[in-house]
Amino acid sequence: MTGIILQIIFILLVLFFLKVMFVYLFFNEEVKAAKGRDPAAKSSWEIILLYQGLHALIHYRIANYFYANKFFLVARLISQVSRWLTGIEIHPGASIGKRFFIDHGMGVVIGETAIIGDDVLLYQGVTLGGTGIEKGKRHPTIGNNVVVGAGAKVLGNITVGDNSYIGANAVVIKDVPANSTVVGIPGRITKQDGKKIDISLDHINVLDPLREDIEELQKRIESLEKK
Ligand SMILES: CC(C)(COP(=O)(O)OP(=O)(O)OC[C@H]1O[C@@H](n2cnc3c(N)ncnc32)[C@H](O)[C@@H]1OP(=O)(O)O)[C@@H](O)C(=O)NCCC(=O)NCCS
Repeated sequence: MTGIILQIIFILLVLFFLKVMFVYLFFNEEVKAAKGRDPAAKSSWEIILLYQGLHALIHYRIANYFYANKFFLVARLISQVSRWLTGIEIHPGASIGKRFFIDHGMGVVIGETAIIGDDVLLYQGVTLGGTGIEKGKRHPTIGNNVVVGAGAKVLGNITVGDNSYIGANAVVIKDVPANSTVVGIPGRITKQDGKKIDISLDHINVLDPLREDIEELQKRIESLEKK
């Protein structure tokens, strides 16, 4: 009996060693990216063993291989098991660039036709989804070096330009030019090329109509009070 238990422990140790070697060889860049972008990460070991964002990416790469070779059911099975293990749902058909990092991760959903560039960082609760009415390419294209804040939703076949920052909980449904910061619902650009955009003078981006109405009413109340 003791012999069998020792054999099982030995096999588990070998599998564990092989997994660590596999991650080290094929996901070294991603481990470094995670270390660079998460100030809480103390060591590469911590990331390899405990970061579900990295684990979800590894599962996705395997699922994507099967998807590309038309083993759709196997691909979806891997992605569903990964979702169960990590809380992150990446469709195997999505396309993801290098040094991708999902911090915290729980609740992230990435749709089938989403395209993600290099050096992208997503926080927990991000959805790269469809609007529910489109067919074909119906998920966003995210440029290089983009950060999508916690809980943000980027919806539809839109493009987020390189080096852009989507604020926490924003809902983005229109294209975002490169080097922009977008916040709010619906998402509006507050910074571009490092310069703050004065929303009141920005006639290109649609403002929040409710907020506009409230501001108009406030002005009328003030003028009535003066009278
Ligand atoms: C958007 C963000 C990147 C800030 O960018 P910034 O360029 O430094 O913006 P500022 O702090 O100068 O804020 C610009 C304006 O947007 C507002 N704003 C900032 N973040 C916002 C958000 N997430 N939602 C709504 N409004 C926001 C600010 O109040 C400010 O408004 P004002 O001009 O009326 O005062 C940041 O606030 C953010 O949301 N980061 C996400 C980080 C995250 O998800 N972390 C998770 C860790 S677990």
